[in-house]
Amino acid sequence: MKLQILVVAGDGIGPEVTGEAVKILKAVGELGGHDFTFREALIGGVAIKAKGTPLPAETLDVALESDAVFLGAVGGNEFNSLPPDRRPEAGLLQLRQALGGFANLRPSFAYSALTQNSPLRPEVVDGADILFVRELLGGLYFGEPRAWDREAGSAWNTMRYTREEVIRVARIAFELAGKRRKKLTSVDKANVLEVSQLWRATVTEVAQQYPDVTLEHQYVDACSMHLMNTPRNFDVVLTENLFGDILSDEAAVITGSLGMLPSATIGGQVNLYEPVHGSAPDIAGKGLANPLGAILTAAMLLRHSAGLEQDAVAVEEAVKSVLMEGYRTADLARGQQQNVLSTKEMGKQVYRTLCERIDR
Ligand code: NAD
Ligand code: IPM
Ligand code: MN
Repeated sequence: MKLQILVVAGDGIGPEVTGEAVKILKAVGELGGHDFTFREALIGGVAIKAKGTPLPAETLDVALESDAVFLGAVGGNEFNSLPPDRRPEAGLLQLRQALGGFANLRPSFAYSALTQNSPLRPEVVDGADILFVRELLGGLYFGEPRAWDREAGSAWNTMRYTREEVIRVARIAFELAGKRRKKLTSVDKANVLEVSQLWRATVTEVAQQYPDVTLEHQYVDACSMHLMNTPRNFDVVLTENLFGDILSDEAAVITGSLGMLPSATIGGQVNLYEPVHGSAPDIAGKGLANPLGAILTAAMLLRHSAGLEQDAVAVEEAVKSVLMEGYRTADLARGQQQNVLSTKEMGKQVYRTLCERIDR
């Protein structure tokens, strides 16, 4: 297996967690005799500082030549007063658009070792296993017109979707639901928004091609409540860009920490892999970041870009086993004193466990 991976570590805890995920990918490559090559490039705040732009042309060129792109996180407080199109986050949005992936897969899983970590009661989260399919290239993030008219004191963004954009992401969600528990919840705000009415009508139409999958619709406000009340009732959740951004962070509560959540963006020219969390300026540079979201993102890369399902599962099992052994990063410690590890130490534990598993 040959794979060229571009690593764009970005800002804040991005480089810290990415370092651990890359070690895991390298271990899988070496143990399995795969030819994984890694290149690095700048994105986000570090790119603004070095090159004056959040997505330098050379980063984009190398990304488009790669088989997969692994991103840490972008953003930092020092850039918060910049206009949206010059901020670190703009670099990420431009990269997403250029790579073309429109289906952002965000699994949220209640690890049995972590049921005490969720503020929700164990009997509520136990067994929860949700896959969000977040549309990633449309909606308010990219819709035109958009502007802030400072003189007039008004600002606007446009939530726009075409039927084709809804159909292509819905197909991916139905396919994935068909391989899981065969239930799809489509989330919208069709009681208020025309764009959501188009969304709902189109998803309903696509459903006819997937008779084995049960489709239900929920309004986004109610969904945000049901997710916390009855997370086990969800299988695949399909939704538009901004709703998916919000609901997937909310779903971190089921797992116990935002630092646990991985993501993969598929459907375009080059797949993009990024943990769900951001650059976490509050803990950056302290070795406190949880690298497991990034490591689980590496597992998604093995699954969706390398076709190495067994190795992806081995990484996921190694994470579970390290958690079962009681190891925690600070975000998961909840008063625990022993076996609270730094980012690097947690990476090392997963590495050790993975090597034992792959050797066997
Ligand atoms: P955030 O995800 O960075 O942090 C939210 C909270 O979760 C913080 O308390 C943080 O310490 C904690 N957290 C996040 N990841 C963690 C990890 N791996 N281990 C332990 N704790 C973790 O969100 P924010 O604070 O709202 O945003 C900070 C910056 O990150 C902003 O500039 C934002 O735009 C950016 N951001 C980037 C991405 C991305 O690059 N994909 C995603 C989200 C936010
Ligand atoms: C995410 C982030 C990004 C988004 C930002 C940083 C552009 O919050 O990946 O969830 O809103 O998509
Ligand atoms: Mn987000």
